[in-house]
Amino acid sequence: MCGIVGYIGKREKREFLLDGLKELEYRGYDSAGIAVLHQNEINYFKASGKLDNLVEKTKDFRSIGFGLGIAHTRWATHGKPTEINAHPHWGEFSFVIHNGIIENYMDIKKDLQSEGVVFLSQTDSEVIVHLFEKFVNLGFEPETAFEKTIASLKGAYAILLISKVASQKIFFAKNAVPLIIGKNEEDELFFGSSDAPLIGFASEVIYLEDGTYGWANEKEINLYKDSKQIELSFKLLNSSKIYAQKDGYRFFMEKEIYEQSAVTSETLMGRIKDEKVYLEEVENLDFSKIDEIKICACGTSYHAALTSSYLFERISKIRCSVEIASEFRYKKPLLTQKTLFLVISQSGETADTLEALKMAKRAGLKTLSICNVDNSSIVRISDATILTRAGIEKGVASTKAFATQVLSLWLLALHVGSEKIDENEYASEIKAMRSIPEVLRVDEKIHEKIHRLSKRYLHGHGFFFIGRDIFFPLALEGALKLKEISYLHAEGYPAGEMKHGPIALADSKLFTIALMPQTMLYEKTKSNVEELSARDATILAISPKEFELADDFIKTAPHEHPMSEFFEMMVITQLLALEISIRLGNDVDMPRNLAKSVTVE
Ligand code: F6R
Repeated sequence: MCGIVGYIGKREKREFLLDGLKELEYRGYDSAGIAVLHQNEINYFKASGKLDNLVEKTKDFRSIGFGLGIAHTRWATHGKPTEINAHPHWGEFSFVIHNGIIENYMDIKKDLQSEGVVFLSQTDSEVIVHLFEKFVNLGFEPETAFEKTIASLKGAYAILLISKVASQKIFFAKNAVPLIIGKNEEDELFFGSSDAPLIGFASEVIYLEDGTYGWANEKEINLYKDSKQIELSFKLLNSSKIYAQKDGYRFFMEKEIYEQSAVTSETLMGRIKDEKVYLEEVENLDFSKIDEIKICACGTSYHAALTSSYLFERISKIRCSVEIASEFRYKKPLLTQKTLFLVISQSGETADTLEALKMAKRAGLKTLSICNVDNSSIVRISDATILTRAGIEKGVASTKAFATQVLSLWLLALHVGSEKIDENEYASEIKAMRSIPEVLRVDEKIHEKIHRLSKRYLHGHGFFFIGRDIFFPLALEGALKLKEISYLHAEGYPAGEMKHGPIALADSKLFTIALMPQTMLYEKTKSNVEELSARDATILAISPKEFELADDFIKTAPHEHPMSEFFEMMVITQLLALEISIRLGNDVDMPRNLAKSVTVE
C-alpha cells in the first residue's frame, strides 16, 4: 500500500525522506519518488521498482538549509507501476503525492483536458495538482486554491502538496486514509502515513481526522474541517521503532486483524460506483462464454475459494468447483474451454498454485488471479488479476489477506451475476458489501471477552469448528488459524456432517466452536450443536441469538446479510486463535515449521 513522508525544516532532506520511505517499505510498493523545495527551486526524482533504485538516482543530491520535502511509495491502483505513474506528480509550479483513490478523477480530468491541461500519467492523483494550479491561475490565494481543490475531490485521500507560490508551506488533506503530523522542539515538522517514519524525530503527533485539511510552515499548523479552523490535539509519540511498526499491538497478527477494516475499504475503493460493481480488471473477460469457474488454491486461500463457490453459484448462477492446487496438479484434470480458471494466492508465488495456473494456460483456458502482490509470478502469467490490496502481511498466519480475498471474490461474483439477480437482491448485496469495513472494526469489549474466555481453552483433546454453507469454509479457516499458531489440534467441519462420524469424539474435553448465524440455516445448525451438547461436548457458541446450551457464548450483532455475519465471526475466530496462542506463550507471528510464502511443492 502507498506510503507518505513529508518534512519542513533545516535537516538534510534527502536522507530523512529516503529513511522514512524505508520505514514504510514493509507495506509493499512498486515505485517511489521524492520532491524537495528549497530556495524556490523544486528538485524531484522518481524510480520504479525497489527503493534502492531511488537511492541510486538521488545519490548526488543533497538539500541543506530550510526547505520542504515530500516522498511517496506507490502501490499501483490506477495505471501501471511505471516511473511516470510514480509520485510526485507535477504541474507548472507545484508537486503532489497522494494515497487513496479519487473516485471522480475522470470527470475532473476531462474538464481540465478540455481547458488544455496535458496529463503525463495514467493516475487519478495527477488531477489534484492541476486542479490546484487552475485555481491559483484564476487568482485565488494558494490556501483558498487548495481548499477549493479538496472540496472538489470525492474518495479517499492523504495528500501532501508543495508549490513555488507558497514556498514555506506544505498543504495537506486527509480522508479515509491515514495521515499524521509530528513536531519537535527544534521547530521541525514531519508528515507520515503511519508514525513509523516519525519515530526518533517527532516528539508529539496529531492523528488527523477524516475530512480535515490545512497547511503548515515552520512556525504553525493550520487545520480545518468544513471551512472552520479546528484545534490541534497532539499526543506523545512512543520512541520504540518495533512498537511503531506494530502500532502498539503485541504481534503483527493482532495489528493485521485490527487493520482489516481499513484494508477492506481499500479493496472496495473505486470498485463500487453509482451502486454498481465496477471491476475494470476483468473488463476484457467475456463471462457470457463461460459456463464454469474452476478455482485452485492452497491453505487459507483455498478457504476463500470454497467460500466464493457458494457465492458464484448463488449470485452469479454459474457452476463452480474448487480444488486444492497440490491435488489438482497430478489428477490429470479434465479441462474444458468454457471454464474460467481462477487462482487465489496472497503471495502470488505458491508453487502448487502457480503450476496449476500454468497447466490451465497450457490447456488454453482463460485465467484470472486474485492476488495481493502485483508483479508476482502468478499475476504476471494470468490473463487478468484482481489485486486484493491488503498491504504486506507480516504475520505468517493469514488474516487480512483472507478478508480481502473473500471480499474481492464477492465483488467478482456480483459482477458476473449483475444481470442474473433481481434489482433488489443486487442492491442488498451492494449495501452489505459497503458495510464490511464497519463490520470489521474490532469491538474492544468482544476482544476483552475473548481474552478472558481463552484461558478455558488451553487443554482438552481437540477443537471442532462447525458451521453450514459459507460458515463451513469459515469453520475450516478458524480451525486452521488455531492449529497454526497454538499447535492444538483443531478441525473444521460442516455442522450437519458431525453425526456421520466425528461425534464419536464428543465428551467434555472436546471443544466445539459453533458458528450460528441468524441469517443462514440457524435452526439446522442449532440442532447439530444440540446433538453435541447432549454428548457433553463443551460448546462455545458464536451467534447473535442467545443459546441456552452454550457453555460459553459470544454475542454478535444482528446483521441482515450472511456475509456481514461471516466477516464478524471471522474476526472472532482470529482473535480466539490469537489469545489462546499468546496464553500458551507461542510466537504468534512466526509459528514453528511454517513459512510465509511456500515456493516449493
Ligand atoms: C495460513 C496461510 C497459508 C496460505 C497458503 C497459500 O494462514 O497463510 O495456508 O494461505 O500457504 O499461500 P498463498 O495465498 O500465498 O498462495
